[in-house]
Amino acid sequence: MLGKPLVILGMMGSGKTSVSKVLSKKYGLNLYEMDSMIEEQQGIAIPQIFERHGEEYFRKLESDLLLDILDKKDVCVISTGGGVVKVAENLAMIKEKAVSVWLKVDVSVLLEHVGSGKGRPLLLQGDDPAETLEILLNTREALYSKADIHIDNNHNGHIHVLADQIMDAVFSLD
Ligand code: S3P
Repeated sequence: MLGKPLVILGMMGSGKTSVSKVLSKKYGLNLYEMDSMIEEQQGIAIPQIFERHGEEYFRKLESDLLLDILDKKDVCVISTGGGVVKVAENLAMIKEKAVSVWLKVDVSVLLEHVGSGKGRPLLLQGDDPAETLEILLNTREALYSKADIHIDNNHNGHIHVLADQIMDAVFSLD
């Protein structure tokens, strides 16, 4: 039995939101999609939050929201933003209070998924999205790898199969 929230981690474009929606429906878990919640709370889109207030401000909103959700002690699924692991306290909280899943995806596949990078301010900061993704992945890989479960999501399989694969891995942790 899943006795803790399930936290989905991974780079932008790794499929966190899609699989979280399926996990929520299929397994009857409340869904917390952090980026959408922040946008709703602030009344503006993520790129505008970055533009008006900067990344640090966004990270603070993200950390506060993560804490709020974990404090609910709801057995739910939390779809995070790719950078949530950058803040050490976030990762520590996730390790303590949740079961974490890293959706592992290579840069070439991430690139296909993020397209022009619209809605992803960090991707648009450099001239070359592939290079930016590569750098981000290199700096975050060691953090994502602290997740309890690692799932390869390079092969564009059926989303329900991916969701079941995640739940099988969760149940085999016990
Ligand atoms: C970010 C990823 C985004 C969003 C913000 C920052 C990152 O979420 O939180 O643009 O630092 O990787 P997705 O992973 O859902 O794209």
